[in-house]
Amino acid sequence: MVLNNPAEEPDMSQEEFILIRDFLHEKSGIYFPENKQYLVKNRLVRRMAELGIKTYRDYFYHVKYDTSMREFHLLMDLMTTNETSFFRNEPQLTSFKDEVLPLLIDKKKSENKPKTLRIWSAGCSTGEEPYTLGILIQEKLAGLQGWTTEIIANDISEEVLQKARKGEYSGLTLRNLSPAILAKYFTKNGDNYTVNTKTRALVKFSHMNLNDPRRISVHGNFDVIFCRNVMIYFSEEVKKQLVRGFFNSLEPGGYFYIGHSETLHGISKAFKLVYLKNALVYQKEGKGATTGSRPAGIPGVPRYSSKEAGATSGATKALDLLSKIKPMTTKK
Ligand SMILES: C[S@@+](CC[C@H](N)C(=O)[O-])C[C@H]1O[C@@H](n2cnc3c(N)ncnc32)[C@H](O)[C@@H]1O
Repeated sequence: MVLNNPAEEPDMSQEEFILIRDFLHEKSGIYFPENKQYLVKNRLVRRMAELGIKTYRDYFYHVKYDTSMREFHLLMDLMTTNETSFFRNEPQLTSFKDEVLPLLIDKKKSENKPKTLRIWSAGCSTGEEPYTLGILIQEKLAGLQGWTTEIIANDISEEVLQKARKGEYSGLTLRNLSPAILAKYFTKNGDNYTVNTKTRALVKFSHMNLNDPRRISVHGNFDVIFCRNVMIYFSEEVKKQLVRGFFNSLEPGGYFYIGHSETLHGISKAFKLVYLKNALVYQKEGKGATTGSRPAGIPGVPRYSSKEAGATSGATKALDLLSKIKPMTTKK
């Protein structure tokens, strides 16, 4: 049964909303404030009709007591926002390719470390982010011998992971890809572009709930973690716990990218905020940690690579604000 007439849709009481909202938060970390009640309702109504379930309370018990977890996975497919695209936020990616990767490569060489790059794309959606990272790494490593790359990519939604593993794309998501990159890293089939085998082999997709600290704690030794546009959906308490986990999963000197409109202000003081030429990035201080260059065009701001622990000064707050607004002026 599919509902076409909104008048047939069951109303959601405040109590039902809170039952479902708190369940979602406990399980996934995703938090829907009261003004998003309509969104929760709209996303559930079709599924309830398919199941022949008449009230949101009954749906809540259906998902809560489904020991197979099948309904929970479907619920996650419905409740997550999966917007993404290739080369999303180019300044961050340029900083990764032209600044972070060279620093990591030099550091590993000088410390005689294994020539391995370990990258984590946490909340990878349909795969565009980890494949973009794979492309950038191949571009950077071209001509260098003996390097291996591991990109771990995961998401809570099985539906997006299926698409990611397939690696087949069309339409708007490809809009930031140059013809040269399309020709080099994709095969064309009609309107569809499939990521080539070599790039796909770099990325290991798996299901993971970022609101599961035990799962996070077994992931480690990353050189760079990307968790962009994911934590915006989480409550503060879940963000704090997850960022602690990311910190522990990074190698000393490793880098942490969050979305360009996000900040760790009020979430964590453990990371150092580094001002690279193209973007801001967080770094876990430690042996071999590198400092960024001074951001261009900010007169009067002290030369920086300062720990966010000191994030109470006016200058730091100004820079924190800048981290939110700067990318809006650049091409996405
Ligand atoms: C807006 S997309 C961001 C994709 C990509 N990182 C980017 O910036 O383009 C957010 C992704 O986070 C995933 N997500 C939300 N909650 C999650 C959780 N608890 N564990 C793992 N992934 C989660 C969603 O399923 C969704 O695919």
